[in-house]
Amino acid sequence: MNGIIPLEIRKFVETGLGKQAWPEIVRLAEVPPRVYVPVVDYPDQEVMALLSAVSARTGDSIPVILEALGELMVPDLINMVSTLIRPGWKTLDVIANTEEAIHEVLRQAGTNTNPPELKCRWSGSHEVVVTYISSRKMCPLAKGIIKGIARHYGEQATITEPTCMLRGDAACQLHISVT
Ligand code: HEM
Repeated sequence: MNGIIPLEIRKFVETGLGKQAWPEIVRLAEVPPRVYVPVVDYPDQEVMALLSAVSARTGDSIPVILEALGELMVPDLINMVSTLIRPGWKTLDVIANTEEAIHEVLRQAGTNTNPPELKCRWSGSHEVVVTYISSRKMCPLAKGIIKGIARHYGEQATITEPTCMLRGDAACQLHISVT
């Protein structure tokens, strides 16, 4: 998984628990102490071990942590792809264009970064539907990212999830509207 994810986990830990908590999490996760960088790919198991250690330390479940992490990481994600986001876009435009304008461009960028394939479509003029399928089953991260994007644009997102891989469905469907 792209280094941006463990980097953001570190930021999440240091913001919530203080700087001294990061070495503790790394020890608890039994992963090698590293300097994570955004252009390098790291094993998914390492990222999962870090998330499990945060969960053990805070008592929050991994889905709760992933959602908060997704929201926290949006300013850095937007900064990373600021040239791909058209002026005038707001929450639903960014989400509707994530696959073609952002994730696909990152896949072509010459690193191993492999964001999930999302199907994002307008369903009427006020709602976007995202279909997410990934063996990583990180839909709470998607929900957090959506909330973070809405916060970035001063909007509030309402998300319903009629199907979810974590509930045994084949795909997660996120219906998103904003106020
Ligand atoms: C602001 C624009 C965005 C950027 C720059 C971005 C970038 C990334 C990157 C670099 C990864 C790591 C991929 C890897 O390591 O292989 C990732 C993963 C992910 N992204 Fe995005 N993303 C954006 C928006 C979104 C949106 C709007 C959603 C959901 C609606 C989303 C859902 C996810 C999920 C769920 C993952 C977890 C990995 C997986 O399931 O395979 N992203 N994204």
